[in-house]
Amino acid sequence: MASITASLRAGMFDDYQLPSGHVVADLGGSDGSVLVKLLDDDTDHTRRGILFDRATTVHTARLVLAAAGLRDRVDVVGGDFFASVPRAHVYVLAYILHDWSDAECCRILASIEAAAHVGARVVIIEGVVPHGDAPHLTKTIDLTMLAMMTGKERSEEQYRDLLDVAGFDLDRVVETGGPFSILEATLR
Ligand SMILES: C[S@@+](CC[C@H](N)C(=O)[O-])C[C@H]1O[C@@H](n2cnc3c(N)ncnc32)[C@H](O)[C@@H]1O
Repeated sequence: MASITASLRAGMFDDYQLPSGHVVADLGGSDGSVLVKLLDDDTDHTRRGILFDRATTVHTARLVLAAAGLRDRVDVVGGDFFASVPRAHVYVLAYILHDWSDAECCRILASIEAAAHVGARVVIIEGVVPHGDAPHLTKTIDLTMLAMMTGKERSEEQYRDLLDVAGFDLDRVVETGGPFSILEATLR
């Protein structure tokens, strides 16, 4: 899966800097390639990372992080984001929320709320469904989610409402020049 999302997100972080915060946790971070890119773009290279995914999945991440020279800056943690997540200042959810229903997304966000302090930031990388009937990649992916998962693609308003219900404020939506966006939110 990470190899598919990697091809779709080529170049999308080139002009992007994560919100401030010393510890960055990538939840459902798979092979670690998103975290490698985001920490690599960190200008002073002092942040620490947490790669969090199912215990059965994190082995590859250890190899990818070692190859990127980041093993000493990133803790690799196996777990279930519906149960609990580690404490961090910034949480990355890359192609995670669209896999899950609103109720399931609220459980993931509740795990963050239980672990984090007020003011923690969440960085969501997803397609955002545009208004209108014009074709868009997110509308195709939406059908895949309908067939394979409990999730769906969401509009900006749907992300704002979902985050609000879960106790987060959507701060901004960063366009990336491709079909995917970066949504930043803050825990109230
Ligand atoms: C669609 S992939 C996204 C991978 C990665 N974030 C990316 O952008 O390439 C979903 C990831 O969520 C992980 N995942 C699914 N359920 C999980 C759970 N309950 N707890 C932790 N990770 C989970 C999967 O193992 C997988 O790596």
